[in-house]
Amino acid sequence: MRACNNLNTSICFNYKEIGVTYCTLTNASNGKGWPKISDDVFDGEKINWNKFFEERSKEIYAIKNCCERVECKNCQQICDIDFSDDKKIHYILLSPWQICNSNCIYCLGHAEMISTKTPNYEKYYKEYEEPYDMLSIIKDMIANNVLAEDAEIDFAGGEPTLYPKFDEIINFFIDNGFKNIIIHTNNIQYSKAIERGIKENAISLMISIDAGTKKCHEKTKGVRSFDKVWHNFKKYSKKRNKTYSKRLCTKYVLVPNVNDSKKELEEFIKQSKKNGATQVALNVYNQLLNEMNYEDSLLNNLKELSDFWISKAKENGLPYILFPNIEYVYKKLNQKT
Ligand SMILES: C[S@@+](CC[C@H](N)C(=O)[O-])C[C@H]1O[C@@H](n2cnc3c(N)ncnc32)[C@H](O)[C@@H]1O
Ligand code: SF4
Ligand code: SF4
Repeated sequence: MRACNNLNTSICFNYKEIGVTYCTLTNASNGKGWPKISDDVFDGEKINWNKFFEERSKEIYAIKNCCERVECKNCQQICDIDFSDDKKIHYILLSPWQICNSNCIYCLGHAEMISTKTPNYEKYYKEYEEPYDMLSIIKDMIANNVLAEDAEIDFAGGEPTLYPKFDEIINFFIDNGFKNIIIHTNNIQYSKAIERGIKENAISLMISIDAGTKKCHEKTKGVRSFDKVWHNFKKYSKKRNKTYSKRLCTKYVLVPNVNDSKKELEEFIKQSKKNGATQVALNVYNQLLNEMNYEDSLLNNLKELSDFWISKAKENGLPYILFPNIEYVYKKLNQKT
């Protein structure tokens, strides 16, 4: 059957208009995301867990017996799979929050930045605040024993550290023994709960930095925050103790003609090394490869940049990962040879 394990294991807390979904991904190849789960399952306050698993298995059964869903078509995650359902959630994506203190040139997932002095500021932010009470749903999930003990908790956004209950939610997970928490952040806002999670070996960080120099960082992120971001990173990195086994990962999303010089890539690796990263990651922004008629020269250029970046990571003794978009570039070029 053609789908992926994401469907059988995950839950995604999304923005108000998207709501709660089974599949946590938007399919990057066609921009389609799964529809929200029905009002029968989630009434806006509480999830009926029996109905949740019942509906999820109906979805899986439908795919098994009929055909792949349009959302799954050409998805990079799709594969042939046979599910066994243990009626547990193994992965939570917490992404209900669009507000951000950056304005990255490539990002579609954040709300427009407005100043506190703008008329209707309060009303504007209210719309993005608390689409539902996520913490109370999480508490209910744990009380009903539907969250697997080794579940991965993944916080994104908008900028998650600006979510009003961010520290409270992180502390709740740590208090309840969850040790597999990953935070995607731009690292402008320092968080005491993240600091605790690093000390207690419960949190990995995936930090979107996207540049190697102050000037290019400002161009890519739309705000002046380079020094602050690295200052916070160093502070977190110093909280690690010898038993820390998670990841402090710095990430670079390539955007042609914005941050795609070798100098930037090299400086990014040097800064990551200097400030205590334990891993570096490379991606290229999603929209670029969605354009089906891109030229071969684009793929060749991306490959050259990626090869260069990998060589610098190796020179500096930094473990690295490539995101699926970059893997896709290599795959496409291999198919042509
Ligand atoms: C939407 S952000 C939210 C978390 C946080 N604000 C951050 O920047 O890490 C989650 C991740 O998606 C990445 N991202 C956002 N838009 C993207 C795009 N168009 N293509 C590839 N990655 C993107 C960001 O770099 C970030 O690592
Ligand atoms: S194949 Fe893609 S769209 Fe389909 S369930 Fe998996 S991640 Fe979601
Ligand atoms: S920091 Fe994250 S959410 Fe904010 S604009 Fe950048 S990628 Fe988007």
